[in-house]
Amino acid sequence: MLRIGVIGITGRMGQAVLDVAAGTHDIAAVAGFVRPGRDTTALRRSLPPSLLLTDALPDLMRLVDVVIDFSHPDLTLAAARAAAASGVPLVTGTTGLAEAHRAALCEAAQHVPIVHAANFSVGIAVLLRLLPELARTLAEWDIEVIERHHRAKRDAPSGTAIRLVQAMSRARAETPLTYVYGRGPGEALRQPGEVGLHAVRAGGEVGRHTVLLASDDEGLEITHWAQSRRAYARGALEAARRIRNRPPGLYSFSELLFS
Ligand SMILES: NC(=O)c1ccc[n+]([C@@H]2O[C@H](COP(=O)([O-])OP(=O)(O)OC[C@H]3O[C@@H](n4cnc5c(N)ncnc54)[C@H](OP(=O)(O)O)[C@@H]3O)[C@@H](O)[C@H]2O)c1
Repeated sequence: MLRIGVIGITGRMGQAVLDVAAGTHDIAAVAGFVRPGRDTTALRRSLPPSLLLTDALPDLMRLVDVVIDFSHPDLTLAAARAAAASGVPLVTGTTGLAEAHRAALCEAAQHVPIVHAANFSVGIAVLLRLLPELARTLAEWDIEVIERHHRAKRDAPSGTAIRLVQAMSRARAETPLTYVYGRGPGEALRQPGEVGLHAVRAGGEVGRHTVLLASDDEGLEITHWAQSRRAYARGALEAARRIRNRPPGLYSFSELLFS
């Protein structure tokens, strides 16, 4: 049995991880991290009595084989340091990481295996493998990425949109792409080599990404959407299974799935 701890246990993704884990035969959620001072009375009622709720990361680390984090970049940074100090592998899906957060993940990955993915759905992992080929083959075509998420999403553009563009940028290394975030108002004539990223925020949309490639005469649109957060939770749990016995290092979800 793989024992996991959940950081961000009160959040939308934390709850989805608990929900999917409860339906597996090989994973048990045994601990969750809560914000210091938070009233956990209501949360407690929906959790197994044996699950430890704690505001001390080292206490959580002591109980688990792998820790799964969907929270906030500052908490992810603290979680990475605590995981490294305790020798516990970390699966993190938190987005909106700045350079300092990434540096902390790299540092911690010298001591424990860590997987960070802006999107833990299998569909996006497969799309990331296909996009370099498309961008290379359709080298003259314009590229735009449009993403839609629920109104409560904090960061924009989504980490997934950025990853999708990065995957295509690498395939067009000779003509580096310039990122343009939205267009206008005012003068916004498309320049050669631009790639537009467009963020839509409305309602309860779980996550939808469209990659659009177009020439003067034709176009191609590929859309991935998540029907529910369970898609991401399933992927994070699969990552937990696969990272458990890896050597220290910073892994991508694709790497864990396909190699
Ligand atoms: N990689 C993927 O596949 C994927 C998929 C969906 C979302 N995400 C990302 O995952 C993250 C969480 O998303 P969500 O929709 O679950 O957000 P959410 O519902 O707002 O949940 C955030 C969680 O983090 C906790 N948290 C935030 N700051 C904290 C702090 N300083 N100390 C302690 N706890 C703190 C919150 O606790 P409180 O309840 O106490 O505030 C809550 O449990 C975001 O970065 C989102 O973009 C990734």
